[in-house]
Amino acid sequence: MHNIQPWWKTGVIYEVYVRSFQDSNGDGIGDLAGLTQRVPYLAGLGIDAIWISPFYQSPMRDFGYDISDYCAIEPIFGTLDDFDRLVATAHAHSLKVILDFVPNHTSDQHPWFVAARARRDSPKRDWYGWHEPGEDGGPPNNWLSIFGGSAWEYDTCTNQYYLHTFLKEQPDLNWRNPGVKAAMFDTMRFWLDRGVDGFRVDVIYALLKDDFFRDDPTNLKFRPGDNPYESLRHDNSLESPDVHDLLREMRELLDSYDGERVLIGETFHLSTLERFVSYYGKNLDECHLPFNFQLIMRAWDAQTIRAFVEEYEQVLPIGAWPNWVLSNHDQHRIATRAGSLAQAKLAQMLLLTLRGTPTCYYGDELGMSNVPIALEDERDPFGIRVPGQGRDPERTPMLWDSTPYAGFSTVKPWLPLTDGWQDLNVAAQQAEATSILTLFRALVALRRALPTLHIGSYATFACTPSSVFAYLREHGGERVLIVLQFGAEPCVIDTAVLGVRGEVLLSTYLDRIGSIPLDQIQLRAHEGLIVRLA
Ligand code: NOJ
Ligand code: CA
Repeated sequence: MHNIQPWWKTGVIYEVYVRSFQDSNGDGIGDLAGLTQRVPYLAGLGIDAIWISPFYQSPMRDFGYDISDYCAIEPIFGTLDDFDRLVATAHAHSLKVILDFVPNHTSDQHPWFVAARARRDSPKRDWYGWHEPGEDGGPPNNWLSIFGGSAWEYDTCTNQYYLHTFLKEQPDLNWRNPGVKAAMFDTMRFWLDRGVDGFRVDVIYALLKDDFFRDDPTNLKFRPGDNPYESLRHDNSLESPDVHDLLREMRELLDSYDGERVLIGETFHLSTLERFVSYYGKNLDECHLPFNFQLIMRAWDAQTIRAFVEEYEQVLPIGAWPNWVLSNHDQHRIATRAGSLAQAKLAQMLLLTLRGTPTCYYGDELGMSNVPIALEDERDPFGIRVPGQGRDPERTPMLWDSTPYAGFSTVKPWLPLTDGWQDLNVAAQQAEATSILTLFRALVALRRALPTLHIGSYATFACTPSSVFAYLREHGGERVLIVLQFGAEPCVIDTAVLGVRGEVLLSTYLDRIGSIPLDQIQLRAHEGLIVRLA
């Protein structure tokens, strides 16, 4: 069947945290040349696109999310030639390349900020959020930094405060200034002209703030132990309604290029589901895919997930395309959250069979779990400033083989390896018929082969016990049932209403395929099944 849908709807996106994917020059840190070496592996997984974490010039205070030159490559990661080779190699393997674009803030070492900070009358001054102290001489308002403390830093150089939603080394740009917009759109063009297939845009919901810098209200849902940032609602510091005008312009820029260049928004701290879907745009003219993080935020429980999938399907504007994320470089890995390898397998079946574009996180195809990091070894500034919030555990090196340092590097890597890496690595799992890696490849292949799985409709299949989440995908007369047993008990599902016989296409156990009677379906502990209905 001819595929007329754009690739970002039918395809699978895979996030590469470049620092931890493959080191090519023996410094213990992953780089672009290393990633290029691993393109055949990525193509072999059957995925369609890679999203690469930031590799631009950076003092690395927030590991690349603090950029001092948007059009240069950080030497740790390589050169522009390395980048061009990566894009050419990826494209030669039919893989799209999505860059991480970080427009909300620069590094404090960016020449724009250096100039802005030097003098109140600097032409670059208004490119950032400068403000007089509040009446008591303290910060201008009560806004908080996501990474701890006030969002305002007093600068003795010119005796004003500047705004930083993240670290004080990450000053927020003022997107209301036309010069900022023009300069940042130019940086997008720079990469689009070099052939990239789209952007994942960092904290897209934070780009514009309340014009009057009004205080944020108290969050009555705040609980002890939550990130102190959550003690306020961010009605004024985030989600300014006019951000949508800006996003439309960004989308126009992407649409002015040939090919289907994708705009993905990082939509995280959003107050409601309605607000979240507003990032598609009223006329679907903003983000193609505002990241849906709800599988990360909600409990790993069949009924919780079923309820959310239904709610999301209901609230999506007509024509808006869904998407799903299980893990990323900011959140605990799914194998850890779900609690076992069997559940990690189930989670991959969920991710790759729901309606909408899946984004996978490197290493999840191996069932990698969080690596505990002692407080004194922590590298992530968030974890160092706000205990318990560290993101190092989910950023550890990819496990390639059983040579020293798992084939990631020839020296001790910047973060430690997962315990048990000798058995968990790609080479070991490749040789194993029932490994999670084998399952992952089978799921991606099946999803590609069956239009029902990549573009079909979704409907919940109501059944008991409550530990099971089941749904039907349908397209062009073909019906596929997915049944997922979240519980640890074997169970029996009554499926007689679906017909007489079905064909098992895949089990998370990878040990059964073929025709089965449909009067009832038996599931083992944490088993997931994909069944084509006759
Ligand atoms: C979201 C990114 O995913 C995270 O890693 C980063 O620290 C913040 N934005 C700041 O850029
Ligand atoms: Ca390196």
